[in-house]
Amino acid sequence: MKLQDSFNRIIDYMRISITDRCNLRCTYCIPKGRVELLDHDELLRYEEIIEIIEAASELGVKKIRITGGEPLIKRNITTLIKGIKAVEGIEDLSLTTNGLFLEKQAASLAAAGLDRVNISIDSLKHDRFKDITGGGDLDVILKSIQAAVDNNLTPLKLNIVPIRGMNDDEIEDFAKITLSKNYQVRFIEFMPVGKNSLWDRSKYLPTEEIRERVSSIGRLIPVKERKHGPARYYRFENAIGVIGFISAVTHHFCEDCNRLRLTSEGKLRPCLFSDTEIDLKNSIRRGASREEIKRLLKLSIEIKPKGHNLREDGINRTLKDMVGIGG
Ligand code: 5AD
Ligand code: SF4
Repeated sequence: MKLQDSFNRIIDYMRISITDRCNLRCTYCIPKGRVELLDHDELLRYEEIIEIIEAASELGVKKIRITGGEPLIKRNITTLIKGIKAVEGIEDLSLTTNGLFLEKQAASLAAAGLDRVNISIDSLKHDRFKDITGGGDLDVILKSIQAAVDNNLTPLKLNIVPIRGMNDDEIEDFAKITLSKNYQVRFIEFMPVGKNSLWDRSKYLPTEEIRERVSSIGRLIPVKERKHGPARYYRFENAIGVIGFISAVTHHFCEDCNRLRLTSEGKLRPCLFSDTEIDLKNSIRRGASREEIKRLLKLSIEIKPKGHNLREDGINRTLKDMVGIGG
């Protein structure tokens, strides 16, 4: 079965946020001051997540990504991983993490069936990393990266959000990693998400500018387009890794959008940049049948907008912060 939306996009990928909490406080992701968090019983339970994935898989979803907040702060996450892997039709299971708790868990996650990880890392300088993340230790993340590779949680993706005056002087250093490591180093445009975010136009770097800086190191050769997804990939001559650009703001990647999102609160969010949501948790807790869950999943695909109207002036930002949506 194939799920197609109103604009002929095939939806085969679901991103699931399993917590709105994080063990870091990246300045650009979590607003300063008091952050409202969900109560434990407002979060979807593992059984509920599996139930939704079973329904989604019957509709043609094949790829699942677990996000947060930080997913690795949850207890017994291997139980969830095993449960998802056991769902018929799920071919690819990945997880986005800040890496802080990954080193110790990499082996058990891999054994439970996790295929690969994306690690967010916004600086390669110890002091700066600490500042950006509100106390994170870069050495721990570097060990986690190695542990991910050692346990075949690959292809390994590193996600960087360049922000002017914060870490944009490290773009070249991040790109150079691909000369000696078989990683996918991906630069993500800083997005105006969340009402309190520190986003402003002067801090944001469009892909064009990031790409120019990367090109100062060497010529970028386009890598053959892979199927779907927002990143465009390139490599340096003789490099073993690849460089990706995710132009969330400038070039809408909406026409290639293949995904559904489920928030930790159990709401289906057809588009990252629209605050329209469908409450799946309530239906499940009221005893919805498999058919009813499928109906809501289909509905969320039907109302998936053609594109977002984020603009470089930051108008139209979403109400929810990234940590609450799941990146
Ligand atoms: N713009 C772009 N990426 C963001 N992330 C968090 N907030 C933003 C934003 N405003 C990224 C993190 C991480 C992923 C979960 O989302 O860096 O890689
Ligand atoms: Fe946590 Fe990732 Fe947000 Fe940093 S960017 S605060 S690691 S969710």
